[in-house]
Amino acid sequence: MAFQHMSNDKALSVRGLDVVYNNAVTALSGVSMKVDPGQFVAVLGANGAGKTTLVRAITGLLFIHGGAVREGAISFGDTRIDPEGVGGTVQLGISQVPEGRMIFPRLSVEENLLCGASRRKRGPEVDADISRMFEIFPNLASRRKDTAGLLSGGEQQMLAVGRALMGAPQLIICDELSLGLAPMIVKDLFELLKDLNQEGGISVLVIEQNARIALENSDYGYVLETGRVAIEGPSAELRADKHVQEFYLGGAGDAKEAYEAVVARYRRDPK
Ligand SMILES: Nc1ncnc2c1ncn2[C@@H]1O[C@H](COP(=O)(O)OP(=O)(O)OP(=O)(O)O)[C@@H](O)[C@H]1O
Ligand SMILES: [Mg+2]
Repeated sequence: MAFQHMSNDKALSVRGLDVVYNNAVTALSGVSMKVDPGQFVAVLGANGAGKTTLVRAITGLLFIHGGAVREGAISFGDTRIDPEGVGGTVQLGISQVPEGRMIFPRLSVEENLLCGASRRKRGPEVDADISRMFEIFPNLASRRKDTAGLLSGGEQQMLAVGRALMGAPQLIICDELSLGLAPMIVKDLFELLKDLNQEGGISVLVIEQNARIALENSDYGYVLETGRVAIEGPSAELRADKHVQEFYLGGAGDAKEAYEAVVARYRRDPK
């Protein structure tokens, strides 16, 4: 699938961010990270590390959850976005695929896609993009009039990605894209993100517990541990990092060797 290369010149920059929930729980402390235009960045971390909090801060949704930015700043291009609400960030070209997909279950597949384009004027361009989404996700094409709540988990995630793309974003943020999905679907979705990134020029920020797939596809990664950036670096370097291997890749080398040994042992001899 070819994607038209869009102009993209805005960097996302998070500087020294502290976030507190209910004036009591500190979820992020001094977090600095960035996504350069056209870059594919991964944020990794265990449960409760603060990954979703970071997404909420970027998209202006903290207040819904009783959270607030205490210190620091977030900007997209030249614009400070930490004081903005979610409408503001969508308007600036940031779309998100939220944790848990959050599609609108009672609306049809097509209506969900249209919701993603709400900042754009309905017209031939939006209609063409809807057709494009059905080319990218043929599974959704045959279900376009169906109620979205009836889709499988994988199809709902595709719909959530399609809805985000309908906002014609310069930056797409995906929170736990892989959660609860079959490995093949996860692989396909990451390949799609890679295409959007490389051919479409869209910046990508993935928030993932699945460190392996995130580091295989990204250029640069950050590891969050209890609200702080513990490690950062080019993804290839993080894959080789002992700490990352032990805690986030599940002792990658050993597991792979053990698996290959089992396969070799049980593989039938062709002779
Ligand atoms: N609405 C909230 N009110 C109070 N505390 C919260 C709220 N949301 C998150 N927290 C706390 O903030 C910290 C970070 O949570 P967050 O959801 O950002 O983690 P996460 O890395 O996304 O975890 P997961 O992998 O489970 O999605 C946790 O200690 C969590 O309990
Ligand atoms: Mg989360």
